[in-house]
Amino acid sequence: MLENTPSRTAELVALMRALENSYYGEKSLLKDKYAARFLSDFYMTLFNRLSVLPDFMAFFVNIGSIGVFDFINLRHAFMDAYVKKYAPDLPLVLLGAGYDSRALRLAEYIKHGVWEFDFPATQRRKKFYLRNEQLPATGLHYCEVDFMKESLQEIFEKLGTPRTPTIVIWEGVSMYVSEEIVRSTLTTCGKFFGPGTIVLFDYWHRTTEQPVRNLAMAFTPFLMELVYNERFTFGAGLDEMRKIALECGAKKFSSFSGKQMMAKLSLTSRLPFTSAAMAVVEF
Ligand SMILES: C[S@@+](CC[C@H](N)C(=O)[O-])C[C@H]1O[C@@H](n2cnc3c(N)ncnc32)[C@H](O)[C@@H]1O
Repeated sequence: MLENTPSRTAELVALMRALENSYYGEKSLLKDKYAARFLSDFYMTLFNRLSVLPDFMAFFVNIGSIGVFDFINLRHAFMDAYVKKYAPDLPLVLLGAGYDSRALRLAEYIKHGVWEFDFPATQRRKKFYLRNEQLPATGLHYCEVDFMKESLQEIFEKLGTPRTPTIVIWEGVSMYVSEEIVRSTLTTCGKFFGPGTIVLFDYWHRTTEQPVRNLAMAFTPFLMELVYNERFTFGAGLDEMRKIALECGAKKFSSFSGKQMMAKLSLTSRLPFTSAAMAVVEF
């Protein structure tokens, strides 16, 4: 990740959400009308080219991305469901928020404030593109941080994040950090916010039971580094992830594959990436 440059992967996932909105219209899972605003010229050109012939292109884009397109939108919708359920009662913390627009899209459910943490470069760009938006009445707090330079505990203390049970979303980030950071993030969230806190994050499976897929997976970190300067570093299997979460003080750990998320969201027609999963960690 280039420290002084807005995150490119955050823009890539914004492109996926913008396309999902354009392909599915009224049936869109996310209806993220803000996502397209964050696209720079290159991504906007891609968006315009890929928006034509929605029925055909939605399938083509998903197959072309080996199911990453559907996985990314499913994980976002799955997390949205938790925000709708819990944000009326709990504060919401977004770690590595990128161009997440929940603070605006789901404002009606968020009754105890949102704390968005990200690199200054990404966050300032986001604020610029949202400068004319009416921000939610219950409070949106932008917090500029570098998770690699300060401990999460110090960051929360310095910024005065409330020490009450919280819903924490850590979306699309765990694969770019070390196992040590994954452990310290989970432990700190559990200890700082206390019992009743829920941490939602997706994680990458470094290996699967399919040897051919494993061969392709071995190239993923290098490909991400080459294209985005953001290298995949952390990966874990389901049992490994459960062990880590429990060692970090979780009371309950659940994990959902793309297909299981589809079942939870009562969907049948998506083909999500199978080498990643969604973790729900309850403290
Ligand atoms: C793949 S993007 C995901 C963005 C957002 N959560 C989403 O799903 O749309 C990863 C985000 O983590 C942020 N990030 C990565 N490393 C970070 C660090 N060391 N400190 C703060 N933010 C970081 C990036 O700026 C980027 O916004």
